Amino acid sequence: MANVVTDPRVHPEVILPDLSKPNPLVTFKKEDIAFVYGSKWKQRYFQKAGDDYFPLGAQWDVTHQVWRAYNVAKGTDWWTAFYPPENSQRPTGPLCDGCHSVNYDIRSKGVTEWNVGCEKCHGPGAEHASRPSRTNIVNPAMLDAIQGNNVCIQCHSQGRPLKNPIEGTYYDWPVGFQVGLDLKNFWQLEEHRLGEQTFTHFADGTAHKNRMQGNDFVTSVMYTRGVTCFSCHDVHGTANDADLLKPANVLCLECHGPKSPNGPRTATIEEHTHHKPGSPGNECIACHMPKIEQTIADVNVRAHTFRFVTPSDTETLKVPNPCAGCHADKPPGWARDTLKTWPQFSPWRVGN
Ligand code: HEC
Ligand code: HEC
Ligand code: HEC
Ligand code: HEC
Ligand code: HEC
Ligand code: HEC
Ligand code: HEC
Repeated sequence: MANVVTDPRVHPEVILPDLSKPNPLVTFKKEDIAFVYGSKWKQRYFQKAGDDYFPLGAQWDVTHQVWRAYNVAKGTDWWTAFYPPENSQRPTGPLCDGCHSVNYDIRSKGVTEWNVGCEKCHGPGAEHASRPSRTNIVNPAMLDAIQGNNVCIQCHSQGRPLKNPIEGTYYDWPVGFQVGLDLKNFWQLEEHRLGEQTFTHFADGTAHKNRMQGNDFVTSVMYTRGVTCFSCHDVHGTANDADLLKPANVLCLECHGPKSPNGPRTATIEEHTHHKPGSPGNECIACHMPKIEQTIADVNVRAHTFRFVTPSDTETLKVPNPCAGCHADKPPGWARDTLKTWPQFSPWRVGN
């Protein structure tokens, strides 16, 4: 996992855009930036006031290499009801830092590390560091699947603490949780009622925005079968995109394929996908992990429900389906009618 927070006074090279080029959105100077988060999709900048950090008003869209305004609008995130309307008045301690650091202390506002560091996933490590042994450190792989997934879900989810406010302040991360404890005693996932499109969810319950891999994954069949986030990702870093253990299509086929009891149940992969080998439409993630969850502007991350969103779900529930995502030139109804002619899928499930 990449560095998420860096002190630009020590490493000025982390600031991706060129701040010497004037831009009407950018009302701050390089020297005003005390901290930086992000490097992959978007980069955000913070100013220090007292012992708190506050977001500056512009963020860098890494994909398009442009500045965009940054202010969380009232009525979007649940916590906007409890904070002033301007980002510049909203401290990162209660709203961000618990997920972008290790051991953020809500009283001292200190951290052990400004990053997603070892102890966030392995629990306290001082004793282990002085006397390394398997018995004095948490190995997420040895936890049951629910607790194992919670190691990741503590940060990769939208939710709120069970008790809020805490000492008068509203927090957006599971204060008090550490690996080894039970996340459900600290955190509840953002609620959703079927049929409602909200800031966080499409009407069918699929997440709508980034940082919701956990909310999605708990609804999947794989989750109920004991598959974990780290069945697919190695967070210590790999050469593959998103720290995948293997390139995506190789990875899925470790557990799936014509001969696997996990499906798909066709003689060949192409009979399941109806796209040629090598075609983007033949990749498992093309249809089972569409990029429909917004992180900034039109840059989206992938759904983690693994459910196939049907063209009729798009008509009735306004959730984008993967066929139309690639075949945008085709008329409405085309994908649904095509699917009806693909005999291995139930028309009652995908063609209605
Ligand atoms: C974002 C979460 C996360 C972070 C951060 C993280 N780990 Fe891990 N670590 C895991 C998970 C999950 C496993 C078990 C699955 C695997 O091996 O990937 C693991 C496994 C390991 C293992 C293998 C244990 C065994 O018995 O085989 C070692 C060693 C390890 N981590 C060391 C570290 C060190 C040292 C750091 C900090 C530099 C670190 N980890 C940071 C999540 C994390
Ligand atoms: C509950 C945990 C949590 C909270 C609270 C949180 N984040 Fe994050 N943030 C994440 C995770 C996990 C990701 C990466 C996954 C994703 O974006 O889908 C992320 C991604 C990001 C990124 C993009 C990183 C990149 O490389 O592109 C930025 C920037 C960011 N967060 C800033 C913030 C700011 C600013 C706040 C507070 C206003 C905040 N986050 C609050 C967990 C959190
Ligand atoms: C302390 C909070 C935290 C925990 C715990 C955590 N993550 Fe993350 N994760 C983040 C943030 C923040 C980012 C965005 C990093 C960046 O700026 O690029 C991220 C990014 C990622 C990415 C994208 C990396 C890339 O380069 O594309 C993956 C994959 C990921 N996390 C998986 C996991 C898995 C699997 C676990 C559990 C073993 C886990 N994370 C635990 C906060 C966390
Ligand atoms: C570690 C093994 C493992 C890996 C890796 C894996 N799967 Fe699965 N998958 C399973 C299991 C187990 C099931 C449940 C099968 C059953 O009980 O019918 C499943 C079920 C599914 C289902 C059916 C779920 C539903 O809602 O109907 C889909 C779709 C799926 N996987 C897609 C993928 C994709 C896409 C990938 C690659 C990104 C992948 N899987 C990687 C083990 C795995
Ligand atoms: C072109 C789109 C498309 C691609 C690509 C695709 N699938 Fe599917 N998949 C579907 C549809 C449609 C269904 C049926 C969904 C339903 O019935 O609700 C499905 C169902 C499944 C199921 C559950 C039913 C069964 O047959 O067992 C599994 C498992 C599955 N796919 C795995 C995969 C894997 C693994 C890959 C990559 C090798 C893949 N899919 C690629 C469209 C696709
Ligand atoms: C069955 C395999 C599988 C499981 C389980 C899984 N992921 Fe992923 N994840 C993927 C694949 C495949 C990608 C897309 C990589 C790409 O686009 O090249 C991905 C992408 C991501 C990304 C990067 C954002 C994006 O969409 O590109 C993050 C963050 C992430 N996963 C976190 C998680 C977390 C947290 C969990 C558990 C709650 C999890 N994943 C469970 C396969 C999986
Ligand atoms: C990741 C992008 C992608 C996704 C998702 C995708 N396709 Fe395709 N599709 C392609 C590409 C590229 C071709 C042309 C090359 C080929 O035949 O594989 C194609 C070809 C086709 C063709 C034959 C040529 C034509 O235009 O008539 C049909 C039919 C089709 N797709 C239907 C579907 C349906 C239905 C879905 C959803 C279940 C779907 N596709 C999902 C990319 C995609």
